[in-house]
Amino acid sequence: MPEIRATPEKWSLGDLLAMQALQPLIPHYVPWTAWSMRPAALASVVNDVVLRHRRTVVELGAGSSTMVLARAVELTGGRLVAIEHDPGFATALNRQLRSAGLHERAVVRHVPLTALSAEAPQTGSRRAAEHWYDREALHHATPDGIDLLLVDGPPAGDLGDVLVREPAVRVLRNKLAASFSVYLDDAEREPERETLAMWESQLGIPFTIVERISLGMGSTDGGFAPTL
Ligand SMILES: C[S@@+](CC[C@H](N)C(=O)[O-])C[C@H]1O[C@@H](n2cnc3c(N)ncnc32)[C@H](O)[C@@H]1O
Repeated sequence: MPEIRATPEKWSLGDLLAMQALQPLIPHYVPWTAWSMRPAALASVVNDVVLRHRRTVVELGAGSSTMVLARAVELTGGRLVAIEHDPGFATALNRQLRSAGLHERAVVRHVPLTALSAEAPQTGSRRAAEHWYDREALHHATPDGIDLLLVDGPPAGDLGDVLVREPAVRVLRNKLAASFSVYLDDAEREPERETLAMWESQLGIPFTIVERISLGMGSTDGGFAPTL
C-alpha cells in the first residue's frame, strides 16, 4: 500500500500576497516545500533585514528561506550564514546559491546534531532538547555580531513536547550584536511558546507571537511590522 502523507495546509491568502511581495528577491526558482517557512513569516523577517539594515544574519535550519534571505542581505551589503544539520541538503543549497550568483553573499554550513550534555536549565513542563547542533562546530561556523537570528531548526515536527530549539539563544547569546532581532518559526506550537518565554528571561527583552503567521520575535529595537 502506498504511504499516505497528511501534510496540513498552512498557507493563507496572506502568504500568497507575501509571495508576490517577495518576488523581486526571487529571480531564480526556489524549491518551496512543506518544510519551508510560510512566505508571510519570511517576508516579515525580510522587512526587518531591510528596515533595520541587518548585515550579519544567521539562520538555523536552511531551505527556501536561505535563498530569499541571501537576496535580502544583498540589499544591505550584509552576509548570511545558514546552519544545516543535513550535509546533502547543505550541498544542494550551496549549489543553488552558486548558480544564483549568491555564493559570496550567503553560505550554508553543515553542522551535525550531537547529544547535548546535561546543561539545560529548568524547562518547566516540557523536556529539554537532547540533541542539538554541535556547539564547537557551531561556534566556528557562525560570525560574531549577529544582528538577526532566525531559528527554524533543528526539525521539531515529530518531537512532541521537546524544547528542540531552546538552546539557540543560550548558545549564541554571546555572539549577538548590541542591536538585534531574534525570530522563531512555528511559534504556534506549545514547546516553541515555552521556548520564547525562556528567551525573554535569557535576553531580558519582550517577545511577541504573531499567531496569524506562526512567528515569534523579540528585538532590542522594539516591535516589528508583520507582513500581509
Ligand atoms: C523547518 S525546516 C527549515 C526550513 C527553512 N528555514 C525554510 O524556510 O525553508 C528544518 C529542516 O528541515 C529540512 N528540510 C527543509 N526543507 C527540506 C527539503 N526540501 N528537503 C529535505 N529536507 C528539508 C532541513 O534539514 C532543515 O534544516
